Amino acid sequence: MKKLILAALFVASTWNALGQNSGSTLSVIPEPVLVKETTGYFKVPPKINLLCPQGTENDLTISFLKKKLSLMTDVQVNAKKTSSATVQLVLNQATDSIIGAEGYSLSVTPQKVLVKANTPAGLYYGIQTLVQLLPAEVEGHHKVKQAREWKIPAMEIIDYPRFAWRGLMLDVSRHFFTPDEVKRFIDRMSHYKYNTFHWHLTDDEGWRIEIKSLPKLTEKGAWRVEKIGNFGTFSNPLPEEPKTYGGFYTQDEIRDIVKYAQERFVRVMPEIDMPGHSMAAIAAYPELATIEDAESYHVRAGEPIIDWTTRPRHTALKDNNLSPTKEVVYDFVNKVMSEVADLFPFEYIHVGGDEATYNFWEKSPEVAELMAREKLQNMAEVQSYFEHRVEKIIQSKGKKMMGWDEILEGGVSPSTAVMSWRGLEHGVKASNTGHYVVMSPTQYAYLDYMQGDASTEAPVYSTLRLDQTYKFNPVPAEANPRFVLGGQANLWTEQVYNYRQVEYMIWPRGFAIAESLWSPESKKDWQKFVNKTEEHFKRSNYAGVKYSPAIYDPIVAVTKSGDDFLVTLTTEIDGLDIYTSFDNSTPDCFYPKYVKSQLIPKDAKLMRIITYRGKEVAGRLMTISVEDLKKRAK
Ligand code: ACM
Repeated sequence: MKKLILAALFVASTWNALGQNSGSTLSVIPEPVLVKETTGYFKVPPKINLLCPQGTENDLTISFLKKKLSLMTDVQVNAKKTSSATVQLVLNQATDSIIGAEGYSLSVTPQKVLVKANTPAGLYYGIQTLVQLLPAEVEGHHKVKQAREWKIPAMEIIDYPRFAWRGLMLDVSRHFFTPDEVKRFIDRMSHYKYNTFHWHLTDDEGWRIEIKSLPKLTEKGAWRVEKIGNFGTFSNPLPEEPKTYGGFYTQDEIRDIVKYAQERFVRVMPEIDMPGHSMAAIAAYPELATIEDAESYHVRAGEPIIDWTTRPRHTALKDNNLSPTKEVVYDFVNKVMSEVADLFPFEYIHVGGDEATYNFWEKSPEVAELMAREKLQNMAEVQSYFEHRVEKIIQSKGKKMMGWDEILEGGVSPSTAVMSWRGLEHGVKASNTGHYVVMSPTQYAYLDYMQGDASTEAPVYSTLRLDQTYKFNPVPAEANPRFVLGGQANLWTEQVYNYRQVEYMIWPRGFAIAESLWSPESKKDWQKFVNKTEEHFKRSNYAGVKYSPAIYDPIVAVTKSGDDFLVTLTTEIDGLDIYTSFDNSTPDCFYPKYVKSQLIPKDAKLMRIITYRGKEVAGRLMTISVEDLKKRAK
């Protein structure tokens, strides 16, 4: 906050003289800290001299900008200052304390564009902003015709992040994504100024990282029977069915991806999920489970293995947990973490810790013995014993440990960092007891949830609309802000079968989270954000990146009154008209406009709904059976 006030004072004193109004109509996501539009335009000339800092001519940052500008004009890169340099990238000689380690300033005048930063990361982010100021066509891959004049409005920007941890998680276990797809993911996240890629590499459905000292992890653990449909409900795979679905990253591929991410100022945090979510590892090495029963373990293909309905805790139908009592398990963890620590330069290794089931541990004489020996009161403390031993291993490799918030339950050492997913409250508690925290709560940041009506989405048990993600604030009033590193959105991929669907699930909610993590709270503005989102839809079209258009679809609510069912429709964004039918025909903007809740006609079978903006179709045609509507009734 102090920094923001300082920056505001600085800008006020510098810019008051300009006498310009400060309302910005630019579409930069995430919203910069300070933007001041001035007069005139920088017109992209037929040839640009691009000045870069000495020694950075071949850096990714420079080649990225050159590639974008080259779609519009000829670009000459030069590290020697000449008066003809029309785009200048400058590393500050003396540190500018306002913009810090990741910030930048950007000045556009009719004569030139100047990006200044203290660090290469700052320059990279300044350039991402600059690219977003250029016409949408630069997101594409084809040279744009010089049919119109390309220009950027003159302005001054000062910008820096609210949080140092701006994360996105991708689960590559439930479905596998190729190294090239992972790189595309990193490209897009860094364009929106995310800096932490949390790579969920292991789970019940596949072990995806080569561990040379444990070859069966990928020979066996990376492959399963392929099934398609509603993941989680599949029939049990049969022993004779071929295990054709899967894949893993070789250590060379991982090193290559880590380097690729580093060039884009993205840190890569590996997650090796344990003691739960370990079926793939157990299928490869059955001795890791409490009961060594080689016949019964296989990499999960999407069949039910946990009963989520039991209380107070869910119940494993098959044991997918590492044993907390066996030394062979800690030898395994030691081998895995040695290789993981060598591959990933980031300071943290995430060790999962979520959703461990205890019912097999509860029946185990070895666990009972451990409890007596270590004076452990309950299963949470048994898990805590496991986590403490894992942390010692992680620390022996020179790394810090992070885990999902369940690890707090039995107590963890203060040096362990916590990722709060079951709401914000675990993160609040952790921050108040001196643990570093990353906030990643389901109710704002779970990108596997449906974002529109169930009739348009792959089925998931919950919905998270864009407007709700936009409300994400990683530092609730009760938290100790000193310990909140930042926030993160997570994409679990049970229902995500291909990379296009990854993109669909990430965007535009990823825009909203990016803004929640980078921009000052005071700069967040839903209406403006929606306008920018629509601009970024156009940009995504040029980039060939899929996104969800669910903001254009109505929200359907059904109420029951006596024998009658009433359908109420609302929209997430303003300016849409809704049209409906119950007569099986396809409504359009010549139908009567929806104005109030509609009674479902007694013998109707289908409701169709569509939105328009004026005479233009906006949303997708939604078709919902009356039977389904009635089931939704409150
Ligand atoms: C989680 O969603 N199980 C961390």
